[in-house]
Amino acid sequence: MTEPGRNEAETIRLEKPGWRTRARMWLAGTTIQSRLARTFTLASLAPALVTAVVGVGMIRHGVYAQAQAQVNANLESAKDIYQSALDRLQDAIRIHATRMVIYGALSRGDPSGLAEEMDRIRRAERLDALTIVDADGRVFYRSLNPSGPRGEVTEDRVIRQALERLQPVAATMIVPPDVLLRNSPALAARAAIKIEPTPRARPGSQTEITAGLMLRASAPVTTPAGRMLGVLDGAILLNRNPDIVDAIRRTVFKEEEYEGRPTGTATIFENDVRVSTNVRGADGTRAIGTRASAEVADAVLSRGETWRGRAFVVQDWYLAAYAPIRDLGGATIGMLYVGVLEKPFMDSLWRSLLVFLGIAAGGVALVNLIAVRVAKRISAPIHELTVAARRIAEGEYARVAERSTDDEIGDLSRSFNTMTTELQAAHQALRESADQLERKVESRTAELRRMQAQLIQSEKMVAIGKLAAGVAHEINNPLTGVLTNSSLMLEDLPDGHPWREDLQTIVNETLRCRKIVKGLLDFSRQTKPQRTQLELNQLVEDVLALVRNQTVFRSIKITYDLDPRLPRVLADADQMRQVVLNIVLNAAEAMAQGGELRLSSSWDPARRTVDVAVSDTGPGMPDDVRARLFEPFFTTKRTGTGLGLSVAYGLVERHHGELLVDSARGRGTTFTIRLPIEGAPDDD
Ligand SMILES: Nc1ncnc2c1ncn2[C@@H]1O[C@H](COP(=O)(O)OP(=O)(O)O)[C@@H](O)[C@H]1O
Ligand SMILES: [Mg+2]
Repeated sequence: MTEPGRNEAETIRLEKPGWRTRARMWLAGTTIQSRLARTFTLASLAPALVTAVVGVGMIRHGVYAQAQAQVNANLESAKDIYQSALDRLQDAIRIHATRMVIYGALSRGDPSGLAEEMDRIRRAERLDALTIVDADGRVFYRSLNPSGPRGEVTEDRVIRQALERLQPVAATMIVPPDVLLRNSPALAARAAIKIEPTPRARPGSQTEITAGLMLRASAPVTTPAGRMLGVLDGAILLNRNPDIVDAIRRTVFKEEEYEGRPTGTATIFENDVRVSTNVRGADGTRAIGTRASAEVADAVLSRGETWRGRAFVVQDWYLAAYAPIRDLGGATIGMLYVGVLEKPFMDSLWRSLLVFLGIAAGGVALVNLIAVRVAKRISAPIHELTVAARRIAEGEYARVAERSTDDEIGDLSRSFNTMTTELQAAHQALRESADQLERKVESRTAELRRMQAQLIQSEKMVAIGKLAAGVAHEINNPLTGVLTNSSLMLEDLPDGHPWREDLQTIVNETLRCRKIVKGLLDFSRQTKPQRTQLELNQLVEDVLALVRNQTVFRSIKITYDLDPRLPRVLADADQMRQVVLNIVLNAAEAMAQGGELRLSSSWDPARRTVDVAVSDTGPGMPDDVRARLFEPFFTTKRTGTGLGLSVAYGLVERHHGELLVDSARGRGTTFTIRLPIEGAPDDD
């Protein structure tokens, strides 16, 4: 087995597929790479999404809980602010109740000197109403309407309680419109609020509220001895009064805004109607007259609870808290609301969701990237092997790039290349032995053909030989008679006799006949070779010495190239001499215009044969002549017998040798006599 050149096999270079192809393959999952990558990606996608959803859920929960806690705290602050407004009112009224002017007027029963002092107090304390009632509960003085009706007994519960208990009293109260009107028409007008139709509100046919929600404080006016003289009563109308809600917004929410809207809002409800608020409506004005949702109203107004949660307020969602506002008797007459705009929380929630999703997507992308890398490292060599295997199947010995890695893939590519090498070597060996076989068959066929031709030739020779022998024998005796008699007659005739020339022609032609007959006899004589150890070089030189003086050799240069170490050959000397002679004569005849005759000898120790070659520089032979060269009587010469070569051929053959001819027109001719050194086996 021969080692095939390693470099012959070409190493495969993979063409990189375009991104479209890769994406299609990824989706279709037709390659190991895409299947691996997809599995990895899907496996990482699920936890990423779950993390995102759970994470955002947790954040949402946390944010809401915290925001709601904040709102609850805000509500407490708002309540404090509301309560402190009521407290301040109460303090102011209690202090002003001790004024001498009021005491003096009440004890005198004459309100005439009160106007200036009462107006001053009302303005200083920003009161909407300031009233003095006497010990019997009759209206003594109304600051806003001093000239109005007076003396009627008041039914007002705050005042009555102050009178009865001889103590200051403060509370939020709903004050009916006629009371407001008695104080001032402007006050009644401020309290009157048209109810806006509000979605989600309690069903109701009321279109307007006319009563006012008021902060109220009453303080008894007494003599220094402690006798009750009357009550000083101050009131602040909350309807359309932004003081408290704005104070809440200012202190609790620091006037913060989000996208042009206040983040924190506060509202005071009279029942479920907004009477004081900084929640804005669609037109940007305070949303006075709109109503709370039915759900909130039911919880706070009907059940007296504090309501906390998400609430849709006017036009936005808020995280809100509503606390009941109770009057002196503990009845719920309104609500205090604080709310924080939900949108900032939602926005930050969305932002965190986006961040989460971004991180998740990044994670998935990273995993996908790694998966593709890993998959490629696995699948690329496999793909390469597939391509290489296909090419090997097509008869091309492709090798794959060997990987230095120590894993299965490295092993696989190394084994693959080893396989390729061995396959290639085996294939080559097979091809070589096939070639060798073919060559053997060819040479064997040629040999057979030559042997067959030889066989035909020798059979022909044998047949012709027999014929010739018979003819020669029959002709020889009469021919001898003709020659003897014509020779004798020629001797007897005197010189110049007219027959003499004709007789000479008869003698010559008869001699030529004898030559032919002799040739025939030579040809037909099946004499057994008398074998002796022959020195062929010597034999060649003897033959040449015999003929070189003949006229045909006159213009021919003779050269020798005889191998002095030529071994002896077991052969018949006479017959060999005749063979050489016939060939040399033919050569000389072929070089009638002159030339070179070259005699050489050589031997082949392996084949155990000796060659004697006779070369001339004559005209050579055309193919048709060469084909019939050894046929008896084939001649191209006018006076030739055509027997020389056929005789030579017969003799060489009897020595189990070969007579080879190499000739072409214009190249001269070489005859080679090849004889076995050991001679022919003694078979005949
Ligand atoms: N050396 C040679 N060069 C050219 N032709 C040759 C040579 N030897 C033989 N021949 C051809 O072979 C023929 C047969 O030769 P051969 O048998 O000796 O008969 P012959 O010499 O009587 O013609 C010749 O007539 C000639 O045409
Ligand atoms: Mg001849």
